[in-house]
Amino acid sequence: MRMTRRRFTQSAAAVGAMCASPLARAAAPAGSLGALAREKGILFGTAMSAAQISDDAYVELVRRECDVIVAENEHKWYVIRADRAAWNFAPADALADFAKNNSIAMRGHTLLWHHPRWLPDWVNALDFKSAAEAETMLGEYIGKVAGRYAPLIHSWDVVNETIDDETGKLRETSFSRAMGADVIEFCFHKAREAAPGARLAYNDYMSWEQGSAKHRAGVLKLLERLKKNDAPIDALGVQSHSNYDMPDEFTPAKRREWRRFMDEVVGMGLEVYLTEFDVNDTRMTPDIAIRDQIIASYTKDYLDLMFSYPQVKELLAWGLVDKYSWLQTFLPRTDGVEKRPTLFDSSYAKKPIYDAVAAAIRAAPLRGPGM
Ligand code: G3I
Repeated sequence: MRMTRRRFTQSAAAVGAMCASPLARAAAPAGSLGALAREKGILFGTAMSAAQISDDAYVELVRRECDVIVAENEHKWYVIRADRAAWNFAPADALADFAKNNSIAMRGHTLLWHHPRWLPDWVNALDFKSAAEAETMLGEYIGKVAGRYAPLIHSWDVVNETIDDETGKLRETSFSRAMGADVIEFCFHKAREAAPGARLAYNDYMSWEQGSAKHRAGVLKLLERLKKNDAPIDALGVQSHSNYDMPDEFTPAKRREWRRFMDEVVGMGLEVYLTEFDVNDTRMTPDIAIRDQIIASYTKDYLDLMFSYPQVKELLAWGLVDKYSWLQTFLPRTDGVEKRPTLFDSSYAKKPIYDAVAAAIRAAPLRGPGM
């Protein structure tokens, strides 16, 4: 559908209003996913790494399709503060410059990945003498990082994956050993202080999948606590990796369960961002045409369900091109066949999943502030 000037102004205003820092340009050109999404009040984009800035073909795709990027790893503690003595902002600055130079919006991921596996060893080894000592270190980090990229970053994953997916309980780190569960609220308050214009999200990978019930319950419990304690949280980041159950296992019963979860989340007054969308095909047939079809069909069903909630205002793919996907190495296929989790294949050609995303966006009801 061709967008009239009036519709464009309305939808650009809707996206602008939902972002604390308005988009400097309506980035992605007509016909792109970014432009289609913009018409519906949805921000579409992708994760990107600093290394990809020198891949011209990748940059071309990002510029063509996306209104927003998020750093795949460059805002993580293990990059910015791998050593206690040195702060390394160079990769994150490169992505921030890329976003600014191309007038693309930016999300931030993440101020605290509250999981010892993804914190530097020196942080895991800390033995704080008091909660105040831990607050000083954490507060300094959040203040510096969120402050440095304000107001560019319109929404932050303040805390990532603090709920253990097997137990539904809070993970333990050197920070929580000193501060208890208050460490989570503390991060949200510090983020609001350092980046007052940014929307603040809790981000996690709970999903519709069968092993995810405890994870979902743990996340709901955390969100309830944050709301009860008046933590400044605006949104839940639903990562939207389908990690373990294959796409053709998105059954009606699982959809009902998932809706129950989503109903609880939006019932708390939270927005929802789909922050890391991709589709895992580890156990699917190697036949490319069949695989692509199943992945596309799941994508349409999943996004239709998610976009039926007007609170869902952002969709970010976790990378655009198969060869760069984390899934190639993290959950590899046993037959060695290349996985196809993203919208473009490894020669940068569109796949059926791209059309499925476009169709879901086209079918999505218009959303905007206050909906
Ligand atoms: O950059 C180094 C390189 O110098 C080194 O030679 C190589 C050898 O292993 O490692 C490279 O770093 C890797 C980095 O990705 C960049 O490719 C790390 O080992 C690897 O652990 C890291 O993985 C990232 C992972 O998070 C852990 O941080 C993935 O790229 C990234 O896609 C993934 O993203 C996460 C989200 O942050 C949170 N949600 C789940 C999602 C997928 O796991």
